[in-house]
Amino acid sequence: MRSCDGGTPREEQHETTFPVAPGKSALLRRTELRYRFPRNTRGMMADHSLFMQAALREASKGRGYTSPNPAVGAVLVANGKIVATGYHERAGAPHAEVECLKSHSGSVPADATLYVTLEPCSTIGRTPACTEAIIRSGVRNVVVGATDPNPPHRGRGIRLLRAAGLTVHTGILTEECTALNEAFNYWVQTKRPFVIAKCGMTLDGRLTRAPREKQWITSVAARRHANLLRAQVDAILIGAGTLRLDNPRLTIRSARGAPQPWRVVLSRSGRVPENAHLFSDKFAHRTLLFRDHGLADVLKSLGEREVTSVLIEGGGNVLGQALDQKLIHRVHIYFAPLMSGGPVVAFSGKGASNTSDGVRLCDPQYEQIGRDIFLSAKTLYRHGSSEQHGETYRLESGSMDTQQELNK
Ligand SMILES: NC(=O)c1ccc[n+]([C@@H]2O[C@H](COP(=O)([O-])OP(=O)(O)OC[C@H]3O[C@@H](n4cnc5c(N)ncnc54)[C@H](OP(=O)(O)O)[C@@H]3O)[C@@H](O)[C@H]2O)c1
Repeated sequence: MRSCDGGTPREEQHETTFPVAPGKSALLRRTELRYRFPRNTRGMMADHSLFMQAALREASKGRGYTSPNPAVGAVLVANGKIVATGYHERAGAPHAEVECLKSHSGSVPADATLYVTLEPCSTIGRTPACTEAIIRSGVRNVVVGATDPNPPHRGRGIRLLRAAGLTVHTGILTEECTALNEAFNYWVQTKRPFVIAKCGMTLDGRLTRAPREKQWITSVAARRHANLLRAQVDAILIGAGTLRLDNPRLTIRSARGAPQPWRVVLSRSGRVPENAHLFSDKFAHRTLLFRDHGLADVLKSLGEREVTSVLIEGGGNVLGQALDQKLIHRVHIYFAPLMSGGPVVAFSGKGASNTSDGVRLCDPQYEQIGRDIFLSAKTLYRHGSSEQHGETYRLESGSMDTQQELNK
């Protein structure tokens, strides 16, 4: 089976480093590592994974609230038990490690280990450097999930902790810790948003029902699910065709307290009804209208406004442009058990000149939601003679050298 890493290993590096052949699936690489660990080390790694999972659960509490910062979680473990937890709640608030250490009453036990999903920051930004706080707290052991994806900072926090005499393990659940912030990881390296194309379609690839019928193709359950995913992005983008025909609200109804993402409308003609919900409801200040801009330029401009992720919600015209221009990093598609025919194709546009130039979907996750099937998958594009993910994954793989360095 082909690996989704485009053949480039990115994770599974531990304090005890073993050679991992490129091109192997994550599962195979995991199995190989398990096999090679001596008994006591294997037990230790299992504990590390368990506690890192707990840190991941902490991190996920902040998902959708922290932009333009990543979601990060931390747990403090002493005597084999979690004694404190913390997560990054929102940009400007204390980081996960600091929250975690703050929530522990009394002095940190000598054998305590701090598990954190992302490498601690080493610079003063909106908050003081976490490396300083960790060193000051008296923690002597730190386990890190993913290294900082920001090239100038990558590995710096870990080196500083080690230089201060702390023991730092890296590479525990790196894949999971990296995936948690897939949009942030892309934006921080490119200053362009991570793009998710979303639609509900019939099995024959149509976006709309017959005129005069209700607009929905998918079930209530699928639409509720889609609404929750909205809460995890910074902006939702539509074409003016969808605005004129559907007059959508593009609000988050299912995730209470989540910040309203930007609502972005594209129109060349400027024919947009002033009384449309997007321009007249209480979130009107969160609506942006772009005229006469290419889609790539719009995304660039959004990235400059610290928009780390964009959900393109259609219609077919805008989705088709995104596909033609290879701007999509992930798809979220809801397939309804219907076939309607008709003119509105889900991804219209020029289309690929030959099949091998089309986008392939990688690491697909399918889920039945109500009567519909939900598919979430990363995109894989052909670049010359090689196949690679959208820019995201090419960039991520660049962290490998540093990761190996760090494990020396
Ligand atoms: N099933 C679903 O998930 C789903 C989701 C969304 C929409 N829909 C359906 O899709 C249908 C509409 O799709 P559609 O393909 O006709 O329209 P669309 O993609 O929503 O909008 C097309 C319009 O967007 C503007 N536009 C597109 N690219 C632009 C660019 N680069 N710069 C500036 N403006 C740009 C133009 O507006 P101007 O004409 O103003 O210049 C163009 O006519 C509706 O029936 C809606 O119900 C279905």
